[in-house]
Amino acid sequence: MTVMTTPNASEAHARVAAPTISSNALPKPELITVEEAKALDVARMTDMFKAHLNPGQLHFMKLLGFHKIKVERAEGMYYIDQNGRKILDFFGGFGSLALGHNHPRIVAERMKFQEEKRHEIAIAFMSQYTAALAHNLAQISPGDLDMVFLGSSGSEAMEAAIKLAERVAGPKRPKIIYAENSFHGKTKGVLSITDGQLYRAEFKVTDNTVRVPFGDIEAIERTFKSDPEIGVIVLETIQGGGGIVQAEPQFWQKLRALCDQYGVLWVADEVQCGVGRSGRFYAFEHYGVVPDITAVAKSLGGGKSAMAAMIARREVYMKAYGVPKTAMIHAAATFGGIGEASITAIETLNVLYDEGLIDNAAATGDYLLERLKALQAKYPKIIKDVRGKGFMVGLEFQDFSQTLPMVLRPVVGMLDDKLKGSLSGFVGALLLRDYDVLVAFTEYNRNVIRLLPPLICQREHVDRFVDSLDALLARGIVAIVKDFVKSQMT
Ligand SMILES: Cc1ncc(COP(=O)(O)O)c(C=O)c1O
Repeated sequence: MTVMTTPNASEAHARVAAPTISSNALPKPELITVEEAKALDVARMTDMFKAHLNPGQLHFMKLLGFHKIKVERAEGMYYIDQNGRKILDFFGGFGSLALGHNHPRIVAERMKFQEEKRHEIAIAFMSQYTAALAHNLAQISPGDLDMVFLGSSGSEAMEAAIKLAERVAGPKRPKIIYAENSFHGKTKGVLSITDGQLYRAEFKVTDNTVRVPFGDIEAIERTFKSDPEIGVIVLETIQGGGGIVQAEPQFWQKLRALCDQYGVLWVADEVQCGVGRSGRFYAFEHYGVVPDITAVAKSLGGGKSAMAAMIARREVYMKAYGVPKTAMIHAAATFGGIGEASITAIETLNVLYDEGLIDNAAATGDYLLERLKALQAKYPKIIKDVRGKGFMVGLEFQDFSQTLPMVLRPVVGMLDDKLKGSLSGFVGALLLRDYDVLVAFTEYNRNVIRLLPPLICQREHVDRFVDSLDALLARGIVAIVKDFVKSQMT
């Protein structure tokens, strides 16, 4: 028997003869190497960001003081910057860091996968990794949510969801209901059901949509009754970009019943609230209901890879793509189910359960809410509302644009349209500058700070976050505004 040994990378490459470079070979452009990239300082990064990425976005980074930071490493609950400063991460990559930064089990599996020279692209052959990942997702998902499409972003999974729903609803029922303040992604298809003018800008969106207030069951019933062309309803189970907004618990049972009655397909967008964040794998599980189609992304990639999934009821999927003639209409794209991303997602799902992270999100999330509610009671003139589920929490500030002393109003007004009247920008900037704490902002509600910490977050992290916020709010609104203005001058 011949024993095969795996050559290491340099041996394998050494066996390939180096190509002879002729004198008229293409000259190499001035390319930066990986090592040089790691060593770039903030000034050079800024120049390149301005020259090649998004110069306008720098404006916001400067307002928040984010532009001074170069992250050198990230571990668990923390970013570590160029000066060795540890920044507590309650932003959590907008909910994409359930396992925290560089979870050791994820890093180890990825390194092993590379050392074993496993294949990445699985277009020709079936992949053992996508098969296992789809199996795991079906095991986790309730009811007959058994069929899985893998992609690389939440938008792509949501595109897959609405295309599947459209095929099943059929040409006589082409209309889609979506909610006020919804966010389902920025790609062209889902832009039609994303409610923000910021993202819609002047783009042409489709006209087969109907908008209803989020959580308004009567409005949905009226629309179902009056418009037989409605075939699909798409809702985030907990609105993220809208400012962490939840429907009444009884809404979901009624929605399921109405969808069954009128034969409308329900698509639950769990891209932000799913993968354990709310204290259940899917937020809709809190209400004992199962949608027809759902989508997850963000944390499914374990904080290390781009991975997204649409999961559909088998019956629904089979209607749309179940036979050879229809199977390739929306089969995975080139990188859908790429090897290392798939094994990362497989490991992520295992870690979530092995380490009890979903339970932790529920219990420590309750503690976070409890502590923030106590803070609201302490500062009722500053904090208007605290709400959420698990580690998906919103902190809404009172709108102080009218109550701020007259002398400060023009200063604040001059700063920026986005921050005007909103404390969240000031608080976020100062939490970072003075307390090494990072929080997220909210697209549609400038008064809301979003807290989406990794699900590994412990009580001590909650205490550190809430104590920092407490110390900052104790300065009072006027001092906070003045301190923020000063921060803009340094
Ligand atoms: C609820 C929801 N749906 C869809 C998306 C789009 O995901 P992605 O940014 O990965 O395309 C997001 C992203 O924030 C989201 O929060």
